[in-house]
Amino acid sequence: MDIRCSFQTLVAVLVAALVVGAIYLTAESGYLVQEDEGGKLDQTTAGNSTLSETTKNSVGRCDLFSGKWVYDNESYPLYKEEECSFMSDQLACGKFGRNDLDYQHWRWQPHHCDLPRFNATALLERLRNKRLVFVGDSLNRGQWVSMVCLLDKAIPKGRKYMHNNGSSLITFKAKDYNAKIEFYWAPLLVESNSDDPVSHRLPERIVRAQAIEKHARHWTDADVLVFNTYLWWRRPQMDVLWGSFNSTDGIYKKVEMLRIYEMALKTWSDWLEIHVNRTKSQLFFMTMSPTHERAEEWGKSVGENCYNETEQITEEGYRGRGTDPKMMRIVENTIEELQKRGLNVEMINITQLTEYRKEGHPSIYRKQWEPLTQEQISNPIGYSDCIHWCLPGVPDVWNELLYAHILNFVPYFNIA
Ligand SMILES: *[C@@H]1O[C@H](CO)[C@@H](O)[C@H](O)[C@H]1NC(C)=O
Ligand SMILES: *[C@@H]1O[C@H](CO)[C@@H](O)[C@H](O)[C@H]1NC(C)=O
Ligand SMILES: *[C@@H]1O[C@H](CO)[C@@H](O)[C@H](O)[C@H]1NC(C)=O
Ligand SMILES: *[C@@H]1O[C@H](CO)[C@@H](O)[C@H](O)[C@H]1NC(C)=O
Ligand SMILES: *[C@@H]1O[C@H](CO)[C@@H](O)[C@H](O)[C@H]1NC(C)=O
Ligand SMILES: *[C@@H]1O[C@H](CO)[C@@H](O)[C@H](O)[C@H]1NC(C)=O
Ligand SMILES: *[C@@H]1O[C@H](CO)[C@@H](O)[C@H](O)[C@H]1NC(C)=O
Repeated sequence: MDIRCSFQTLVAVLVAALVVGAIYLTAESGYLVQEDEGGKLDQTTAGNSTLSETTKNSVGRCDLFSGKWVYDNESYPLYKEEECSFMSDQLACGKFGRNDLDYQHWRWQPHHCDLPRFNATALLERLRNKRLVFVGDSLNRGQWVSMVCLLDKAIPKGRKYMHNNGSSLITFKAKDYNAKIEFYWAPLLVESNSDDPVSHRLPERIVRAQAIEKHARHWTDADVLVFNTYLWWRRPQMDVLWGSFNSTDGIYKKVEMLRIYEMALKTWSDWLEIHVNRTKSQLFFMTMSPTHERAEEWGKSVGENCYNETEQITEEGYRGRGTDPKMMRIVENTIEELQKRGLNVEMINITQLTEYRKEGHPSIYRKQWEPLTQEQISNPIGYSDCIHWCLPGVPDVWNELLYAHILNFVPYFNIA
């Protein structure tokens, strides 16, 4: 029926015929998995096969998240900053004065296969008469902008529109495909006092960890859902509210962050289990996007950050303190549990590959919320944004990874 099915059939036949070994078919996901001896796998569906010596008898799905960045100024960027009609001023680093544009020219090269090339038309065909909704915080919004820019070129003028009336939902529509690519603001996924899409910067974080319907009713029927939630949780504890925000008898309690994070993801996954049509909906969870706010983590002085960085971190497997492995663990468990319960959900593991990209943040090259004071201007480190990502840039690659999963184009390893 779809490409994945035919891949699976093909792989299954090859397995039955040729491979003797510890192969098993996981009941939940239907993916073929095999422990291989050399730890190296080969693929035949894309790219150069240079690994064939070490990869005989290997079958499985390529791990797209393990790889390296390769400088590629011919194919990248995938679109030009100034040519994207829907670019955001918070991410348009070139427009705001950034001159070193190397950050736009990097391709992600998985170790054991090639990333399928992004084809805007193919994705629009897949989304015909459908809704793709990104749900989460400003990082997810950045990824949504990137997705819109990736599709923009393939849609003629006048055949697309953007609807943003200040509510939590922003809609981009490709008219000829009747396809919607939307963003829904819910930085903690569950209800919180930061739910206003514009004014949400509040000193105290209050979370209704058991309540998600207010948001979820806007996206439950979507065909493809892409979630994230991480940054807004970065504090040791928060207020959890039992009861509603406007009732007078609500109960507030300070709870340790990891516990509320777990509670919130439980609320989220329970909602999905009950309300999402599992034959129709494809669900994705983007893992943590690392921040680069402490330059001492990569060998520079205390007090510095991503400001003035033009090069990547080259240490393989580098992990800074801009991510939280305990939160990653909670996400992993939640997703595994949902898969066991039969939902079509996958984790898009961007954390490691993004760790290397300390040079990809806007730093000072973005629109500021408020005019800068003389004092701020004299200390650029102090107002550098080391959280979000310039476009074109890193989120385009996140979307290439997402694209491969939406279309089930993730290459299968095969028998060499
Ligand atoms: C994410 O990908 C990296 C790189 O392949 C890997 O080291 C890490 O274990 C992965 N994390 C999860 C939770 O799958
Ligand atoms: C691309 O990079 C290569 C190697 O750094 C360089 O020789 C070439 O001039 C660059 N091309 C463009 C169009 O920038
Ligand atoms: C992109 O996808 C469309 C629709 O599936 C296909 O017709 C076209 O040949 C593809 N383009 C490339 C460059 O692969
Ligand atoms: C924005 O549009 C949505 C959908 O069309 C509508 O439900 C909502 O009431 C509108 N919000 C405002 C603030 O106009
Ligand atoms: C809380 O306020 C919302 C609108 O702001 C309203 O729809 C809801 O009924 C209120 N709930 C209670 C318990 O007062
Ligand atoms: C779920 O989605 C499938 C495919 O779109 C559809 O045929 C089916 O009627 C849906 N089920 C429900 C309960 O809406
Ligand atoms: C920025 O980096 C350049 C080159 O690495 C260096 O010469 C300059 O002093 C740095 N500026 C600041 C303010 O750190």
